[in-house]
Amino acid sequence: MENSHTQLIEKILDLKRKRNAVILAHNYQLGEVQDIADFIGDSLGLSQNAAETEAEVIVFCGVHFMAETASILCPEKIVLLPDMHAGCPMADMVTAESLREKKKEYPKATVVAYVNTTAEVKAESDICCTSANAVELVQRLGAKEILFIPDQYLGHYVSTKTGREMILWPGYCPTHARIQAADILRLKKVHPQAEVMVHPECRPEVIELADVILSTGGMCRHVQSTETREIIVGTEVGIVHRLRKENPDKIFIPVSEQAICPRMKLITLENILWSLEDMAPQVKVPEEIRLRAKAAVDKMLEVR
Ligand code: 13P
Ligand code: SF4
Repeated sequence: MENSHTQLIEKILDLKRKRNAVILAHNYQLGEVQDIADFIGDSLGLSQNAAETEAEVIVFCGVHFMAETASILCPEKIVLLPDMHAGCPMADMVTAESLREKKKEYPKATVVAYVNTTAEVKAESDICCTSANAVELVQRLGAKEILFIPDQYLGHYVSTKTGREMILWPGYCPTHARIQAADILRLKKVHPQAEVMVHPECRPEVIELADVILSTGGMCRHVQSTETREIIVGTEVGIVHRLRKENPDKIFIPVSEQAICPRMKLITLENILWSLEDMAPQVKVPEEIRLRAKAAVDKMLEVR
């Protein structure tokens, strides 16, 4: 068993070199997938990395919109998504068609799209954001009216931080919706010294209980510097693998073991190998959509 696992990893690494590929993995990926990645990060870090890599092939271990963002930024590269069913349910809560209809209601509004959207939706938007830069980006926007899509909870959080009222799309992340305020209150009683760290995709009543609200990449950086030894973690449980590996002296307590993103977990060592063998499935954004979507992504990346 151990032997075949090692062989599988060796095959992946060997083929990765032959194909001149880079493996990018989101912080929610299975531990064994994170362990073979060249770069692990949040949505912002992954898109910056995709934009800068010199590899010819990107194996994207994450969900579909992330692979699309890589394809938007690097049309000349082959972007592999080892399982095409790895989609983001929140991204599917807004379609290009439904957004066009909404824009008719608010013709003057600037559309700020969370990167958790399809390329087609980005193409209809003015500027993208991730959980790492949404507050700063909205703060800097001169627009009078903002339509924020699709995450109502992230939008609500950005509104409270910036004091800017925004029109919110009623989308949400089903995984983060499983993180409940009652669970945090219970854990705080058991671990009174612990710091509460949550993702801004969480419900407002969860965010209110948090000491720090950060993107997944922000969480990984924050725990390196905090004095607190115990940390209650309110986001998808996959991140705990990385947090524990990088901070063996600290204790990480997930708010909910049920906060699992099933689509993220569709990427496995086996299908990574198959995708490198077959050079499929590939994610490629049609050029007409790509150019319009890129304008929104580029505007986000300019804000550093
Ligand atoms: P970040 O890793 O960008 O914080 O986003 C979380 C997420 O849900 C990605 O789908
Ligand atoms: Fe989408 Fe939520 Fe999964 Fe992130 S955790 S990919 S937002 S469903």
